[in-house]
Amino acid sequence: MVMPPYSLKRMDKTKNSFFNHRKTFLYTGTSNNMKKYLTIIILGLICIFNLGCSQATSITDEQISPQTPPMGWNSWNHFKRKISAKLVKEIADGAKRHKLNEAGYKYLVIDDVWQADALNPDGTLAANPETFPDGIAPLAEYVRQCGFELGIYSSPNLFTCAGYPATLGFEEKHAKQFADWGCKFVKYDFCPNRNDEYHLSYETVIERYRVFGEALRSNDPDIIFAICEKGFAGKIRDRNRPKNPPVPPLDKRIRAFVWCKDVGGVMWRTTMDIKPTWEKIMQILDQQEGLEVLCGPGAFNDPDMLEVGNGDLTLTENRAHFSLWCVLNAPLMLGNDLRDIPKNVLKVITNKEVIALNQDPLCVQAKKVFDNGDIEIFTKPLFNGDIAVCVLNRGPARKNVTFSIEQIGLDSKTNYNARDLWRHKDLGQFQEKFKTSVRSHDITLLRISPINKTK
Ligand code: GAL
Repeated sequence: MVMPPYSLKRMDKTKNSFFNHRKTFLYTGTSNNMKKYLTIIILGLICIFNLGCSQATSITDEQISPQTPPMGWNSWNHFKRKISAKLVKEIADGAKRHKLNEAGYKYLVIDDVWQADALNPDGTLAANPETFPDGIAPLAEYVRQCGFELGIYSSPNLFTCAGYPATLGFEEKHAKQFADWGCKFVKYDFCPNRNDEYHLSYETVIERYRVFGEALRSNDPDIIFAICEKGFAGKIRDRNRPKNPPVPPLDKRIRAFVWCKDVGGVMWRTTMDIKPTWEKIMQILDQQEGLEVLCGPGAFNDPDMLEVGNGDLTLTENRAHFSLWCVLNAPLMLGNDLRDIPKNVLKVITNKEVIALNQDPLCVQAKKVFDNGDIEIFTKPLFNGDIAVCVLNRGPARKNVTFSIEQIGLDSKTNYNARDLWRHKDLGQFQEKFKTSVRSHDITLLRISPINKTK
């Protein structure tokens, strides 16, 4: 086993809760009393403008926050190891040409395999001189000129998941390098087999993330720290779980990720790698169940980068995948080739009404409220009191679906208007029952708004 070249004991273990060091946009520079008055005024205004404001009255400071899921692009899903500065520039040009910044996409992230074969003698990271001949800083500048921010990748091991030199023991140096280069997003990816360290303790893995998170923030408090640890630490803890008295296994999945926000993670990967197949997307969807409790402003479960536009996914599958990630409050990291985006794919990834569900300031992850095998229904409460309803057909044939307000867990005394977010069409008042017909591997995505009168 390789020991980390630093003493864990000497580390500052002060918990650095995410919300303590990030300021909400409304309250920067205001006193606590002032914040309370502002909250009351804002909530009052919300109630005046929003007749169905029953949900808004319980909103706290943190919920009125701009910290919605990060949006951007990552090189791995489509390009894997075939990346270069030339490609990233072309991607930035494509993102600009397709006006992806107007839809909310911000970070263009270089994943693994940008590094040279070895660290510099002083322990700093070097870019591969053939594929990134000018280094990273000019690339970050180029990306910024296109209207985006550059993101980068490393690992808390000796080697990255693809076997390139990584950050273990050089956390401060690498964090400073990334900040100096102008990177605004860092994906930090753990593969235990990269150091033959299957026997690391849960605490050690978390500590490594904490050290790097603190180093990143000390250089740039607004950097996005994207944890990609995939629950290994939780598995280690489970293996070592005391048998007597037993620790309840029930919260296993939650325990696997509960530390990520505390070490400064804005998002954390909850699964192994996605693939552009319907089966894999459904498998990952199932793995999100129960993790809703971890999601909130500035803190997001990450079911992996999008595969929209990749492989053989059909138009309906692309639309369903994108809709599900939006209501799950997942980071929206595109994974397709942005140099050339087919029209139908572009329409999916830039549907503003659907993206608005994802970027809703309440930051609630959708819950599954109905499941009869092929048909599943997810609901996501929104900041203004509306509710997103996503009806998914996982089955091989078109299905007619009928459901009542009670069946999706809503108040039957309230009337609702419904809007179809893919057809961009108001459907009028939601009657006793809602009827829709959903094609195989497709969704119906609704935004329903309470009308303030009781039946
Ligand atoms: C995996 C990770 C992928 C990608 C890859 C690069 O561990 O889950 O998203 O980053 O490593 O080597």
